[in-house]
Amino acid sequence: MDLAIIGGTGLYDPGVLDEPRALVASTPYGTASLFVGRRGEHEVAFLARHGTDHGVPPHRVNYRANIWALRQIGVRRIVATAAVGSLRQALPPGHVVLVDQFLDFTRGRPSTFFDGPVQHTDMTEPYCPGLRGLLAQAAERAGVPVTLGGTYVCTEGPRFETPAEIRMFAAMGGDVVGMTGVPEVVLAREAGLHYAAIAIVTNYAAGISPSPLTHEEVVGVMSKNADALRAMCLDVAGRLSEAGPCGCEGGAKG
Ligand code: HPA
Repeated sequence: MDLAIIGGTGLYDPGVLDEPRALVASTPYGTASLFVGRRGEHEVAFLARHGTDHGVPPHRVNYRANIWALRQIGVRRIVATAAVGSLRQALPPGHVVLVDQFLDFTRGRPSTFFDGPVQHTDMTEPYCPGLRGLLAQAAERAGVPVTLGGTYVCTEGPRFETPAEIRMFAAMGGDVVGMTGVPEVVLAREAGLHYAAIAIVTNYAAGISPSPLTHEEVVGVMSKNADALRAMCLDVAGRLSEAGPCGCEGGAKG
């Protein structure tokens, strides 16, 4: 399997694949629903993070089953999309940030494969720099405004943030805020997989936005940008052999 695409909000459709086949994988953490198919000569898997009907909220996504299932079917590289709010005026809605760091403000989510014996995983470079480089080129080709690198703040959700929280996250160095990036990236790294995230700005965050936030606003901006995001993912599927070096497959350190 050459690549898996994890589709976030607004990207539920496996239609990007030729002849997509639905698959329910059973894992030690429960089941995961995904699709496998081809894109040209490449085998590609697609997983809708919130389910194809957007029925699963961010804090209830079975991140462990999803990542385990992808590895189980032979996936080694994952490109994930994520709708985010922007903490910076310079990152307006429609902008893509290829994030390279995260700040974790989730709580209570099962967030590791390593429940014993003790294993600690290096997080110096949580997102694959090789895949990120390919995505940067793909964004340029798709005509998407893109920033290479940025810090993703992950909140527990499903509520949006208060303006005070947003001021704190910005002061801490956060650039964008979402609800699903962690533990997904952590689990991918624990599993020794290459993982990159396309954070697509759907709104200015609370207190920066002139109006209250709504899920409809997020979905609206996502649907306008969905074709460009799909194009970026599929561009990468065809150029995996050109990815620059990275240390992702080292996985856990004891
Ligand atoms: N906050 C958290 N998650 C989000 C936002 C936001 O402003 N926009 C899209 N996902």
